[in-house]
Amino acid sequence: MTTSDNTPDAPGATSAGTSLWEHDWRHTEGARSIDLRYLQRDPHTTQRPYFAPVLRLAAGHKRFDEKLRLLDVGCANGAFARYVLERRPRWDVSGIDVLPELVDAASAALPQASFSVASICEPRSLPSLQADIVTALTVPSHFDTLDVWLPHLLRMVAADGMAILYGPMNPSPVDLVCRLRHAEGDGEWLPGWNVLSQQTYDSFLTGRARSWDFHYPSVADMGYPTGDPADDLSSRLVSAQDGPRLGNASGLTYRMAFLEIHV
Ligand SMILES: C[S@@+](CC[C@H](N)C(=O)[O-])C[C@H]1O[C@@H](n2cnc3c(N)ncnc32)[C@H](O)[C@@H]1O
Repeated sequence: MTTSDNTPDAPGATSAGTSLWEHDWRHTEGARSIDLRYLQRDPHTTQRPYFAPVLRLAAGHKRFDEKLRLLDVGCANGAFARYVLERRPRWDVSGIDVLPELVDAASAALPQASFSVASICEPRSLPSLQADIVTALTVPSHFDTLDVWLPHLLRMVAADGMAILYGPMNPSPVDLVCRLRHAEGDGEWLPGWNVLSQQTYDSFLTGRARSWDFHYPSVADMGYPTGDPADDLSSRLVSAQDGPRLGNASGLTYRMAFLEIHV
């Protein structure tokens, strides 16, 4: 690419002669340095607003009262694994995360579960297990497309099992792919707030799953913060024309959904 008089000569060109989206935007496989903040949180006391509703959906598994296998994809510090084991101590609970530091912390805090370093985008990195319930909580919004991760996740669901995803989703037929960053300094452009449409999930799941259901909770009742959290990028309740949603200091607002998939 060439430039003259510091005038960008092509859409996306910068005065440095690089293309903004080639240089700064990368297709994401989910990993972000900010997720190392989970190291500062004790999994024994970390409580997220969506843990209880996920376990309520899992109760739809016809063998819920038996010894089930649960795999949490993007398990971070193991807080959801801990939440499950406190309520279902007989279950065989495991987790994977792409950040080794988080897997080490989860393993140290919860020896009764098993955690490993793996990327849901890299089939060869995944443990060779299948689980009756596979969860991915606030993980789906890290990826730009479903094909890079969801097929691998569905393959880890055992026969008659279910996957439960939780994250921003759009009931209208529009997909949003974005990166955010803190404006101070030369902040990393972060993935994590993509909002793919229900229609995109529907097209993807047709022929790959037996049935699926979107559940849009009333976020106002879930325990999300109402004021501004310390971190500008953290989700908080914001009002929108059609009722409360989540949003952050970028101005982006999003509806959250649980997607229950039966394979
Ligand atoms: C927003 S955090 C959510 C953590 C946890 N699920 C929760 O609900 O508190 C996203 C997590 O997914 C992990 N992650 C990102 N990309 C991944 C990938 N390709 N494979 C596995 N884990 C990934 C991150 O390291 C991070 O721990």
